[in-house]
Formats: sequence, C-alpha cells, structure tokens
Amino acid sequence: MSNLILGIESSCDETAAAVIKDGRTVLSNVISSQIDIHEKYGGVVPEIASRNHILNISSVIDEALVQAEVSLDDISAIAVTYGPGLIGALLVGVSSAKAIASAKNIPLVAVNHIHGHIAANYIAHSDLTPPFVCLVASGGHSHIVLVSDYMKFKILGRTRDDAAGEAFDKIARVLGLGYPGGPKLEKLAKEGNENTFSFPRVEFADNPYDFSFSGVKTAVINHLHKCTQKGETINSADIAASFQKAVTDVLTKNTISAAIDNKMDKVVLAGGVSANTALRRSFETAAKENGLKLYYPESVLCTDNAAMIACAGYYKFLSGEVSDSTLNAVANLKL
Ligand code: KG4
Ligand code: ZN
Repeated sequence: MSNLILGIESSCDETAAAVIKDGRTVLSNVISSQIDIHEKYGGVVPEIASRNHILNISSVIDEALVQAEVSLDDISAIAVTYGPGLIGALLVGVSSAKAIASAKNIPLVAVNHIHGHIAANYIAHSDLTPPFVCLVASGGHSHIVLVSDYMKFKILGRTRDDAAGEAFDKIARVLGLGYPGGPKLEKLAKEGNENTFSFPRVEFADNPYDFSFSGVKTAVINHLHKCTQKGETINSADIAASFQKAVTDVLTKNTISAAIDNKMDKVVLAGGVSANTALRRSFETAAKENGLKLYYPESVLCTDNAAMIACAGYYKFLSGEVSDSTLNAVANLKL
C-alpha cells in the first residue's frame, strides 16, 4: 500500500496543503497566496495573515484532497509546519492539523519549515540523496546547512543580520518596486548593468560561511540619498543589478567553499531566493568550475508550499518521530 502524506503550511502569507505519495511524488500542491492582500501595506501584516489563513485553510485542505483524488481515510500521516514563522499564522495550520489528526486518528508529524525548504529538492530530483551542502535562502533565513542524512543537519553558516530575501524585499521597497520585492527586483535587474556599482561583500574571519546583508542594504540606501541630494538621475536598473550581484556573489562563494571544505560533491539550493535566475547562473558557473553537482527545485517549490512540508514529514514519519495533541507552534524554532 502506498504511503500518502497530507502536508499543511501556514507559516507566513501562503495557506498551502498538498498530498504526496511515497515521499517524492506530488499528487496535489495547492497554494492560496495572500500577496494581493498584503501588497498595499508593502509587506506581510501578521494579524491579517492569521485571519486569512483561518478563512482559507479548510477549503485549501479539501482542494488538496480532491485534486489528489484521495480522502482523509487514505492518509498515512499529517505533516504540519510548526515553526519558524509568524506565531498566529503557524497556529492556524497546527490547530487544523491537530483537529484532523485527532478526529480521524491519523499520526501527526511536526515539520521545521527550513527542513521543508531543503526537502523540496527531493521532490524535484528523484535521484538526490544526502549527504550534501544546502543553501537555504528565503525571506526569513539564510543558512548554509550540511545535510548528512535525511534527518541530520548541521548549520555551517548563517546570516548575522538580515536574511537574503529580506534584503531583496527592502531594496525593492526603496526602489519603489513594491511587495514581494525579490521577483520584481530580479526583473528590473535584467535591464541593468551589474558591474556599475561595487556594493560591499562582507566576510567574517571567525566563520567564513556566515553572511551579513545589512551593509549592502545601507550602501544602496546611502547611494540613493546621495543621488537625490545632488539632483543626479537614479538608474534603478543598474542599482538593482549591482545589488543582486553583491548578494549572489556572497551566497555563492560561501556555499561553494562550505561544500569543498566539507568534501561534498553536491550543492543544493532552497528557499524563495533560489528562484532567482542570476543566483542559479552564478552557482552553475561556480559548481562547474569546482566539479560539483548542483540541484535546485522549480520556482513553485522554492517559495513556500506544502508539498515540501509533506516530503520532510515523510522522512520524519519514517524515522518514527510523531507528535501528540500537545504540539504547539514555535515562532523562533531552530533547525
Ligand atoms: O521561502 P519563501 O517563500 O518564504 C520564507 O520562508 O521566507 O521566500 C520568500 C522570499 C521573499 O523575501 C522574496 O522576495 C524572495 O524569497 N524571492 C526572491 C525571488 N523570489 C522570491 N528573491 C530574489 N529573486 C527572486 N526571484
Ligand atoms: Zn519559506
């Protein structure tokens, strides 16, 4: 009999549910985005996100079951994101998963959202197995993770301030591009010259894999202020391209070094920022130069979705780690 996992994700502004078969085959992947709702505020408003998750979650779960052509009676386990993320948003997914698991007597599996992002690659690449080094770059996290087995992680590097996606979103905002910033900034950068400005790339002597993106963000903002004061024309496309280059250079350099130093032959990208084409090209070049095999998921699996949560939940379920009705959401959950 096949193993069917129902995944539920509600950590930020996407209400999502998915059904996957035997860990890696997606039967349905339903994502209800709240982008239109939060766009007018220039970012995610946590309370509004929670309320909309409550309004959407039942129909999103029903739709995932309908599209997969299964019923709750067929489900082997329910995997739900319990952190990190917005506490009110997480609680909607966790409460729904607990209610269904209890009513239907289905095992409940608590999934770390970052683990989910990594697992998106198992769905995208049926041949991918650990060990590998993974860059998880999203709106909330920038981690370099040594994935030594399906359930074994070691964080080699992390951001000391802003996450990479957060930096994209902030610079997009100051350039007047709106929310969500990453894809909009990428589009504008295509029209610019990435070598126009040399924005700072920060390195740390005590950990060569750590990141900092607040310096590059401040440098861009200062540059914009200076241009405004002097009455100079601002070429937003050149700024966007140069900023994107500064961020992708550092993400690539640190991750590739971490892979080489840890004698890994596979490098994996995950999280919303890995949807960025310039980042993918930068990694493709560096991976080729260093004889590494590169993996990244298709864009829909880079940004938040529930198929990745179901996949991570599958491996956690196999390892025998199930939760009971005392499961709670943890906003600052660590990997
Ligand atoms: O993984 P994700 O959907 O949510 C979090 O877990 O945070 O990532 C969202 C982040 C946002 O900051 C968004 O601007 C960024 O990923 N992002 C991108 C691109 N697509 C999404 N950043 C750069 N280029 C993109 N194409
Ligand atoms: Zn995410």
